[in-house]
Amino acid sequence: MLSFKSLAFAAAVAFGALSTAFAAPAVVGSEVVARDLVAARGVAVILTDVHTKIQPHILELNSLVKANATVEVVTPIVVEIKGVVVDAVVEVIALAGASADVILAGVDGGVQVTVAVLAQIIADLLILVFGALGFVLSICADVTVMIPCLCIVADVIGCLICAVFSLVGSLLVGIIGAVVVLIAAILPVIAQLNILVLVNVFAGVKL
Ligand SMILES: *[C@@H]1O[C@H](CO)[C@@H](O)[C@H](O)[C@H]1NC(C)=O
Repeated sequence: MLSFKSLAFAAAVAFGALSTAFAAPAVVGSEVVARDLVAARGVAVILTDVHTKIQPHILELNSLVKANATVEVVTPIVVEIKGVVVDAVVEVIALAGASADVILAGVDGGVQVTVAVLAQIIADLLILVFGALGFVLSICADVTVMIPCLCIVADVIGCLICAVFSLVGSLLVGIIGAVVVLIAAILPVIAQLNILVLVNVFAGVKL
């Protein structure tokens, strides 16, 4: 039976070979393979993975009632979400030098994502997060106290989406406009939390 290590190695080599036609590392050390494996995750997969990982925490936010919609209860939840998002930001930034077929790799590893497909993935993530943050704002007793707490996660989501836009902007022309039309419902929450990176990027879009 193959050990986990050799299975992981085989998977990494296969994944690396599929993801890039040009990479031909002279030395196939486990370090090199591990980095290729990480680099093989395109933006669509990274964002979909964030969506899945933060879902339980979003459910917690959506379970709040006025009595427990407090900074004490909300802070550990948003800190958990922030941790997931920060990892994704690092991963997106690391894709900067990758080829378009890696960056735009489809979720199923097949066809590359289009403007419409990636816009939907981005919009779904923004609606998931800002929908929950807007809900918390709507039930909490003191909005002024709650806003800085919600910005713990809102700011890093803004950071993630801007990193994605700057990475794919020249590959998928019109991506920002395609996202904006999908997220009309949560634009007021983004404005209320004053997430400048998003406010500015969306304000620049001509609809
Ligand atoms: C908040 O309180 C409600 C009602 O008691 C409860 O159902 C929910 O699980 C609580 N949420 C959290 C995150 O503590």
